[in-house]
Amino acid sequence: GLPAQTRRGALIVVEGLDRAGKSSQCEMLRGFLSEQGHVVKYIRFPDRTTPIGKLIDSYLRGSSHQDDHSIHLLFSANRWEIAKGIEEDIASGTTVIVDRYSYSGVVYSAAKANPTLSLDWAWQPEIGLPRPDICLFLGISPEEAAKRGGFGAERYENEAMQTRVRQLFQTIFEKMQDVAIIDAGKSMDEVSKEIQSAVTGCIARLDTCGALRKLE
Ligand code: TMP
Ligand code: MG
Repeated sequence: GLPAQTRRGALIVVEGLDRAGKSSQCEMLRGFLSEQGHVVKYIRFPDRTTPIGKLIDSYLRGSSHQDDHSIHLLFSANRWEIAKGIEEDIASGTTVIVDRYSYSGVVYSAAKANPTLSLDWAWQPEIGLPRPDICLFLGISPEEAAKRGGFGAERYENEAMQTRVRQLFQTIFEKMQDVAIIDAGKSMDEVSKEIQSAVTGCIARLDTCGALRKLE
């Protein structure tokens, strides 16, 4: 292959329901890739540290209210304000692991069943953002999620929302390319092995497939 410094990094997105173990798996994947000699960065959305992120945080905690469309666009804007940084990191050879992305963005908003906020409407502001080289979807049953401690206190962390979110994730990932659907109900080790193998395959294919693409 090419020398490491001329190779771009990979954009790896990890998606899933609450309690699927996204954050732990991102951490394990980061360790695995670092050991292989990759330069790795971990980021998560929403990024609650920016001014837009602070508005989102206050909404999620229930301290403020927002129109469904308005908060949707803020979540998207929160990705756009970080997008350039992601592109620069990838171009300079850093592999970026992203905990939640546009897929959570469209699915959580559309799960509200607001008649003027369809999946289609929700996708529009995502068009043009960096497109992941692979999206890992960590699926978990409601029963397993309940065993792992049930719901937290934030907005969306309730049975009705999570059920619709699960269905919508399935809907969008069924017809999507570059997605690996992973049964996150298995043990942490088994799940991380599956993730490692999907990501290793993705990185092996990357050498020849050129620049980072954009969501369309
Ligand atoms: P977190 O628990 O991973 O910090 O995510 C907070 C919540 O925000 C979670 O319920 C999913 C939701 N969310 C959206 O509604 N839209 C988005 O674009 C993202 C990234 C997350
Ligand atoms: Mg959460």
